[in-house]
Amino acid sequence: MASSLQFILLSSIFLFSNSFSTAQPSFRPQALVLPVSKDASTLQYVTRIGQRTPLVSINVVVDLGGQYLWVDCDRNYVSLSYTPARCNSAQCSLASSENTVTRTATGGEVAQDVVSLQATNGKNPGPVVSLPCFLFTCGSTFLLEGLASGVQGMAGLGRGRIGLPSQFVAAFSFNRKFAVCLTSSTSANGVIFFGNGPYVMLPNIDISTSLIYTPLLINPVSTAGVFSQGEKSVEYFIGVKSIKVNEKSISLNTSLLSISSDGIGGTKISTINPYTVLETSIYNALTGAFVKEANLTRVASIAPFGFCFDSKNVGSTRVGPTVPSIDLVLQSESVYWRIFGANSMVPVRENVLCLGFVDGGLNPRTSFVVGGYQLENNLLQFDLATSRLGFSSSLLFRQTTCSNFNFTSNV
Ligand SMILES: *[C@@H]1O[C@H](CO)[C@@H](O)[C@H](O)[C@H]1NC(C)=O
Ligand SMILES: *[C@@H]1O[C@H](CO)[C@@H](O)[C@H](O)[C@H]1NC(C)=O
Ligand SMILES: *[C@@H]1O[C@H](CO)[C@@H](O)[C@H](O)[C@H]1NC(C)=O
Repeated sequence: MASSLQFILLSSIFLFSNSFSTAQPSFRPQALVLPVSKDASTLQYVTRIGQRTPLVSINVVVDLGGQYLWVDCDRNYVSLSYTPARCNSAQCSLASSENTVTRTATGGEVAQDVVSLQATNGKNPGPVVSLPCFLFTCGSTFLLEGLASGVQGMAGLGRGRIGLPSQFVAAFSFNRKFAVCLTSSTSANGVIFFGNGPYVMLPNIDISTSLIYTPLLINPVSTAGVFSQGEKSVEYFIGVKSIKVNEKSISLNTSLLSISSDGIGGTKISTINPYTVLETSIYNALTGAFVKEANLTRVASIAPFGFCFDSKNVGSTRVGPTVPSIDLVLQSESVYWRIFGANSMVPVRENVLCLGFVDGGLNPRTSFVVGGYQLENNLLQFDLATSRLGFSSSLLFRQTTCSNFNFTSNV
């Protein structure tokens, strides 16, 4: 009995390691691709990756500023290729998992296992490639509370050494870049690319060739729930200098927009906040200017929004409802991220549109958190080597969307 079981296990290890080794050396991908869906009830963005031996697909919440991949190892984790990480390294000092939605953290083993996903030429998914020793941390089942149903953990795309981008780059030595294109639809997938463009959306539009660039800034103090002294934040900050509504500057306390030496203030990009969250004085200035410029009929507000309008007389354009534009002015007056109606107005119920910005209170750690709704149908490329963000502005202008990547495999 025992020996025949052993034989079965050994032969399946052999089979799997064999299929992984044939997948790898013969083929070095130039880029990798993951699908990203939007969960209708939590508004979280969820991706699907292969892990373990035998391989299973797991759903994990995408956390742009997250430190690493963590998964629930307590329930249904079965794998012949699971190994605890060798613990003489700095990696192991990070033995914790954090649910950044509920801000709950727990200690957890750092481990390695096989991870697989598809290569891409930028137009279609290609062959499946595997990383035999992908580092992650083991969370517990209770840590999944607050996450989309069916999810088994979170995938951190932060700039740290064991974030997904760094591990993929190290494994396949391609450029230290990745791009995120979130869908606004709860029925069609958006996309994440790791590596260089092209990033092609149907009908054959390469988004990577027409990006606007701004420096990515480093917050000197970690913004994670659990961190050690002196650790920098792995989140992605940008330098918003001012805000315009209908191309008119609004008056702000600009010191809130810079990152202080103790890590307070500034602007970060988040896929965990479903809507942009602003420090109270910024929120008041922005919403005040918007209401004045928009000249719409206000109706009762609907949480979490403070400003809702009757949409009956609001026109509509390719880039959403006809409302004043909101510009995030970056390193110079001529470089700005323009937010149009499709990304500013949330259709909450029939005939009601709410301004999709949320009051973050008086003393938030970060003054300006650009949230998921404002990112949808915009492609964002994070270039870690040059520390810059490339952004496309609304793809709706180009008559495409983030759900127009052709996920039909070309192999
Ligand atoms: C501007 O914000 C900074 C940082 O929170 C604060 O110390 C300062 O008092 C504010 N200035 C004004 C004029 O409100
Ligand atoms: C606001 O709308 C009303 C009615 O639609 C119009 O009469 C008025 O001129 C508008 N005001 C501004 C400042 O656009
Ligand atoms: C999507 O890609 C597949 C495989 O390359 C191709 O056959 C198909 O025509 C593409 N779809 C569109 C709409 O271009």
